[in-house]
Amino acid sequence: MTTGPLSTPPSEARNHPINPWWVDAVIYQVYPRSFADADGDGMGDLAGVTAQLPYLEELGVDAIWLSPFYVSPQRDGGYDVADYRDVDPLFGRLEDAERLLDAAHAAGLRVIVDLVPNHTSSAHPWFVEALSADPNTEAGRAVRDRYMFRPGTGADGAEAPNNWQSTFGGPAWTRSTNPDGTPGDWYLHLFDSSQPDLNWDNAEVRGEFEDILRFWLDRGVDGFRVDVAHGLVKAEGLPDHHARPGMVTDAEPLAAAGDADAGEDVAGHRESNPQDHAHPVPYHDQEGVHEIYRSWNAVLAEYDHDPVLVAEAWVSPLERLFRYVRPGEMHQAFNFTFLLAGWDAVRMSDAITVSVQEAEKVGAPNTWVLSNHDTVRHASRFGLADPTRYPNGLGAEDEQPDEALGWKRGRAAAMIELGLPGSAYIYQGDELGLPEHTTLDDSLRQDPTFVRTEGAEKGRDGCRVPMPWRADAPGFGFAVGHHVNTGPSPVNPNTPATPGHDAGAAPLTAAAPWLPQPESYGTYAADRQVDVVGSTFELYRQLLGVRGELDLGTGAFAWSRFHSPELGVLAFTVATGGGQGGYDLDSGDHIPEKVALVMANMGQTAVEVPEEYAAAIFSHDEAMQDGQLMPDSAAWFLRR
Ligand code: NOJ
Repeated sequence: MTTGPLSTPPSEARNHPINPWWVDAVIYQVYPRSFADADGDGMGDLAGVTAQLPYLEELGVDAIWLSPFYVSPQRDGGYDVADYRDVDPLFGRLEDAERLLDAAHAAGLRVIVDLVPNHTSSAHPWFVEALSADPNTEAGRAVRDRYMFRPGTGADGAEAPNNWQSTFGGPAWTRSTNPDGTPGDWYLHLFDSSQPDLNWDNAEVRGEFEDILRFWLDRGVDGFRVDVAHGLVKAEGLPDHHARPGMVTDAEPLAAAGDADAGEDVAGHRESNPQDHAHPVPYHDQEGVHEIYRSWNAVLAEYDHDPVLVAEAWVSPLERLFRYVRPGEMHQAFNFTFLLAGWDAVRMSDAITVSVQEAEKVGAPNTWVLSNHDTVRHASRFGLADPTRYPNGLGAEDEQPDEALGWKRGRAAAMIELGLPGSAYIYQGDELGLPEHTTLDDSLRQDPTFVRTEGAEKGRDGCRVPMPWRADAPGFGFAVGHHVNTGPSPVNPNTPATPGHDAGAAPLTAAAPWLPQPESYGTYAADRQVDVVGSTFELYRQLLGVRGELDLGTGAFAWSRFHSPELGVLAFTVATGGGQGGYDLDSGDHIPEKVALVMANMGQTAVEVPEEYAAAIFSHDEAMQDGQLMPDSAAWFLRR
């Protein structure tokens, strides 16, 4: 939805030579279980990712981030790692990872992998060894010291060492059994009981992870997304804490009028409870984590291809988050405050203002993200009656989002996200406008949160449903290269068979996807959107193209005179050097830069836009009417 020609030729160099690639990179998150299934077993795999790289090239992203594909019992979708140096057979073999890296690099795409240092799987050889070791011997104590074992309290140590709650619900401690069958010490797990926390005071643990970094860097990976980066170090003495930790919710939404009421109900169910996260939380954001990242920074500095460390850290306020990206530490940190702002101009405006200020203080780039594999997809959140709500999953009995409204707002939000200077993260399916699966049968749910909260929280399965590639194929073409689905998924036996039909050429059979897709996914399938004018995919492709042409990612941010968050209007300009000069869209002054004005109408009434511009992109066909920007819409106006 463009009017007029672009104001600058698309030949400008994308990155300033002194900037490393990640400063303004658009990074696409691949959740390997659900991206593409090359071997037809119903589960996505690395060969499937390789097969679909041309799609990502067409989209125009700079890099992919792969959620974990390592050897794992899959009790938490792979965030329970049993071998950090090998690929789980579900996803292929180590050679498939190497092939994917080569193919991505040949296509000009960087590859970031996930690193899970807070905990291992209980199937990790270290934990198996710890459980079988005699705690009364020195050798036994040494192997147990890699984890957080503590004696219980109360009579016979039958009660947990402290009151910490697991993020997934229930206690954060499980009692172990000694090799002789007697009840033993308790071990800490901030997540599922199959995810024992490592002891980061242990030198062997530190050495092991530096080695794991080198293992993957030697294979050419371009960086690491660091899971639970704020959680590795626990406060001395493990003092009690009153609240259950959240995930993304532990980042604080700013300007959250009314949020003070949010919190846990009696069942321990939570949405967003910023008040819980006042410091100190004894297992979050401890000072000691920074020393670890300084040592990792030094490891990455041994390599000359500018690898990146990205913190997944749920800390607040933003000032604390940006401490993770001080010089010599990590390079990027996910901005969950922006994600949590929801479809609300005041909250989003405040999140952007503070992010820009804090990033400047430490000299790090900002990052922007709307959805990931832990959140209800934003196309669905923005269609809720309260579009700032942040539920942990949605089920058939919950409020159902207004799909058309969420679709419209989701596209407009992408225009804000991709217009902002810094690095942007796209979760697989965002570019198709994919909604959440909000009516998934409870019997199919695999997220440990669902079980550990006894169903009070539906959990994250609804955003992890396999991608729809072809509208008319069984399983919407999730099994790339297969034509017929014949049976239930062997990797999730509860998933019903997808009725198969011969789609033409010689049939290749595949199992049904590990989670069933909602009917509506047919209309969102990639083959209904690629090269289709007006589709969400084409909107993303166009935004990424113009963002690159104008160097918006490294541009200078300023709120515009149109900015009026109280009236629901978000408006900012991004200026970049190197243009032939022109007139600022805002002030009318002659300027030597290229300028884009990004506007979003998150309010109730149509709003004024600049009278003169060389070109504009609109979030959908009816975004501009009678020269005004309509509610639930956004536009990029490019300088004359
Ligand atoms: C954050 C990951 O994004 C999430 O999926 C996982 O469950 C937890 N960390 C525990 O590793």
